[in-house]
Amino acid sequence: MASREKDILTSKSTASLLHAIGQVVGAEHVLDSDRVAERASHFWDSSPLLALALVRPADTAQTAAVLKLCNDANQPVVTHGGVTGLVQGDKSDARDIILSTERLNDIEPVEVTGRTVAVGSGAILHTIQQHAIEAGLQFGLDLGARGSCTIGGNIATNAGGLQVLRYGMTREQILGLEVVLADGTILSSMNSMMKNNAGYDLKHLFIGSEGTLGIITRAVLRLRPATPAIDTALLAFDSFDNVTTMLGLAGAELNGTLDAFEVIWKPFYQLNTNSAREGTSQSPLSRDHQIYVIVESRGANAQQCSQAFEQVLERALDQAIIADAVIAQSERERANIWHIREHIEIALQHDPVFVYDISLPIVAMADYLDNLEANLKAHWPEVIVYAYGHLADGNLHILVAPPAATALTRTEHDTWYELSNNLVYQPLQALGGSISAEHGIGLTKKSYLPLSRTQAEIDLMRTLKHTLDPYAILNRNKVI
Ligand code: LAC
Ligand code: ZN
Repeated sequence: MASREKDILTSKSTASLLHAIGQVVGAEHVLDSDRVAERASHFWDSSPLLALALVRPADTAQTAAVLKLCNDANQPVVTHGGVTGLVQGDKSDARDIILSTERLNDIEPVEVTGRTVAVGSGAILHTIQQHAIEAGLQFGLDLGARGSCTIGGNIATNAGGLQVLRYGMTREQILGLEVVLADGTILSSMNSMMKNNAGYDLKHLFIGSEGTLGIITRAVLRLRPATPAIDTALLAFDSFDNVTTMLGLAGAELNGTLDAFEVIWKPFYQLNTNSAREGTSQSPLSRDHQIYVIVESRGANAQQCSQAFEQVLERALDQAIIADAVIAQSERERANIWHIREHIEIALQHDPVFVYDISLPIVAMADYLDNLEANLKAHWPEVIVYAYGHLADGNLHILVAPPAATALTRTEHDTWYELSNNLVYQPLQALGGSISAEHGIGLTKKSYLPLSRTQAEIDLMRTLKHTLDPYAILNRNKVI
């Protein structure tokens, strides 16, 4: 067949697929490629979004009908929540249909006694957090992208964030899940029981599967008792050993109320507190310490909590574990401290900048970072290495910013990126660490997966993928 003729046929079948999808969701909820291009391609990237079309189903039944049509047509589908991911798991090209969960955003009333709430996958994390607070409870998941990310995206990536130390990853917050499989089968496991050992717990297959095994449409979330008493401090340290000593002390003395223990190494701290730059925070402490930690404790009783919190800090100061400390005296001071940690936009302005999310044993972190910096400097003597992260979870974020006199070509960029990747990832294997602590694999880490998973594990992942999605329509070519 002449290729022009084939193109016409293809576009004809595409048009009939989109027409059929329009009959399911309503034509106004099928955005063509021009309207798709009016959207930004990503939270961090304002270039136009690329796709054949973007489809907005209103409910699970519509999602199922759309997927069945796509599966029958061997049409690849990329699911979009808040597009705040960091590994290109949501990347689409001109042949993909984007299935957006933006209309699947209903939130049911909280079941206060059982401490659960059922939500649609398109609900925004921050809205869910507020909903739980209004019911006198709280949701145990929090991360910087809370205002844009969706719970569906959090579940699909098994997101970590700022409270994993206390409540665990997203996986620990999910009691029930409703998923649509590639062929349109609805797998509804909207369990709300803490205990349900009736056979395989299938929801865990989809949590963290990054849109490759099914599309999450609803979930039952586990809520926690409220902890309105919040104590936050910024601590400064002059050695990493003291940081780990402090973690042990805080964990033991704060008796289950320790909520966050976030580490920031000096370069990142200095960048985000540089008063010459716009959007930075004011530094409440000297900016010349080696390492900073934000420690936060949350409990029910304000007086009791604050007393315990102050006692631990006093002890640590007396024993010279911490070099200096400041306790937030108001919500404004607390927000200022957290802004130092959460504001990653300034570092991301470097071009190029390579973003990492790794895990490794806490005790190995200081040596790992020293070696990494030395190895990077052997190639780029002026490289800046920003390190910060969720220390108590063994999770570091590292931003590698090698200086470039002029903008790199695509090939140069790829060569530099690969070099940096190898220096960051290779040492993790021997340490028993992971190339992805919480962001997932997506596209950017796919070729490094064997560093963190065995061949047998990857083979089983492929078998599962093939069983659940034989035509690989769901997030094709991502993860494995
Ligand atoms: C953070 C994101 C990058 O913790 O995971 O800031
Ligand atoms: Zn993080």
